[in-house]
Amino acid sequence: MSESKTKRVLTGITSSGKPHIGNILGAILPAIELSKDDSAESLFFISDLHSMTTIKDGKARVEYRNAIAATWLAFGFDYESNLFYRQSKVPQVTELTWYLNCFTPFPMLNNAHAFKSKADNLSDVNAGLFTYPVLMAADILLYDAHVVPVGKDQKQHLEMTRDIAKSFNHQYGEVFVVPEASISENVMQVPGTDGRKMSKSYNNYIDMMASKKQLRKQVMGIVTDAKTLEEPKDPDNCLVYDLYKLLATEEETKAMHDNLLAGGYGYGHAKNELLDKILTGFAKERELFNHYMDNIDLLEKALNIGEEKARDIANAKLKKVRSLLGY
Ligand code: TRP
Repeated sequence: MSESKTKRVLTGITSSGKPHIGNILGAILPAIELSKDDSAESLFFISDLHSMTTIKDGKARVEYRNAIAATWLAFGFDYESNLFYRQSKVPQVTELTWYLNCFTPFPMLNNAHAFKSKADNLSDVNAGLFTYPVLMAADILLYDAHVVPVGKDQKQHLEMTRDIAKSFNHQYGEVFVVPEASISENVMQVPGTDGRKMSKSYNNYIDMMASKKQLRKQVMGIVTDAKTLEEPKDPDNCLVYDLYKLLATEEETKAMHDNLLAGGYGYGHAKNELLDKILTGFAKERELFNHYMDNIDLLEKALNIGEEKARDIANAKLKKVRSLLGY
């Protein structure tokens, strides 16, 4: 860390699908805002090892990983003054995971909400899903991260990370920084096109970077009630409005609100406004995204800079851990 920086902020996004509006508004944009704080060094990575728990197809893994990397860059993450890397390119994290596994009580993992819900919903309930939080702890502890911005759904994982770090430190001294979660309460809850939380696993997402044609299809697919064009509509029960609100200015939002209430304004109109908002509001980012996807060597170059720095930090930490553990 350079001298002017006093703390590390770290967060990861699992590349288990293409990044959607939910990831972008809920995680990527707020993280990029945080990274503008000069007193902190940001470590943002793509957790492509975690993606193994659900994605078994190598080609898909590469595609999703590139799409997520291109999105961070398209939204202007300053990868040169911070660290930007793929988790798998610092394989030291898997060695630390093994050590930490042996400091993780079985019942703690067995009580994880995220695991229980995945075990109930997925057909492939593998051991990687079960130990997912330990790999996450290693992600954080390997780099001495102080602050970890995450969504509410990851809160328990952060508590586990803290417990694992304390348990290790208790035996070996102050080896790991015990990280703080930064859970912003007003973090945007982005609804999916069917009203459930927007998620890759529900296939209810809007891919902001998709072609115009695909994007139109996703937006037109947003579920609405069956009110006719003439009827007044309730903005508080309108997914199109919910999504529009997240992207539009206050005035634009009010205009759609009033239009819905007034009647003579159909869901189709609202959907077109939403589509237009995405296409025009994010035109620059969409173009940059495509530029990176068409020039993968640029992405590689950007990632390699961070990966080299990340490996240096990781090697130093592991050296210390190995020696303490008698390896
Ligand atoms: N589990 C996180 C998610 O899917 C991604 C992640 C992996 C992460 N390792 C991390 C987030 C470390 C913060 C810190 O959202």
